[in-house]
Amino acid sequence: MKIVSVLGSPRKTGNSASIAKRFCDTAEGLGADVQTFFLNDLKYQGCQACMGCKLEKEVCVLNDDLTEVLNAAKEADILVAASPVYMGEMTSQFKGFLDRTFSYTVPDFHSQPKTHRLDDGKKVVLVQTQGQPDSMFGEISQKFQFIFQLIGFEQSHVIRGCQMNMPDDAIKNEETMKQAEDAAKQLVG
Ligand SMILES: Cc1cc2nc3c(=O)[nH]c(=O)nc-3n(C[C@H](O)[C@H](O)[C@H](O)COP(=O)(O)O)c2cc1C
Repeated sequence: MKIVSVLGSPRKTGNSASIAKRFCDTAEGLGADVQTFFLNDLKYQGCQACMGCKLEKEVCVLNDDLTEVLNAAKEADILVAASPVYMGEMTSQFKGFLDRTFSYTVPDFHSQPKTHRLDDGKKVVLVQTQGQPDSMFGEISQKFQFIFQLIGFEQSHVIRGCQMNMPDDAIKNEETMKQAEDAAKQLVG
């Protein structure tokens, strides 16, 4: 089983990265093959709306550091999508990646029974961390459930780390880390 983890925080060992890592380490221990990308290390453009992925090719026609990420994520059985909330949204690093997955959709996807070019059966595990309590920003994961479905990933787990401000808050939170472990055991074990 192939897992691709896409991390949207600038903190390499922060809360969202730690939760994603616990999921991936557990999955790796169960035999999964894991590839991790720190978006903040990469240089890439947002989607240019050139429609090249609809009119010319079946992939994003931009060629930059995100090309490898897009190719890997497309082949993953499980995508781990991890980002903190910044100003009420996923980070701009993560959103830049997500916009480019527009290339996963087929032309005229609105009117097609299958909206994407990916193999069926793929899942996404969404990791969302934030400073505010869990009564805030729950709508982000709901909104992305629709988007991920459109590009070919069924949302299987949402792991939220709330009231986390210091980078090591997640790693100290056993309940959240156990949620990540349990999700990996359920999906891979
Ligand atoms: C620029 C910036 C904007 C933020 N905006 C929000 C916000 O709108 N809502 C919130 O709950 N937390 C917000 N936070 C807090 C982070 O989401 C929180 O600390 C999170 O746990 C960081 O995760 P990370 O360690 O994976 O980066 C913000 C933090 C920064 C640096």
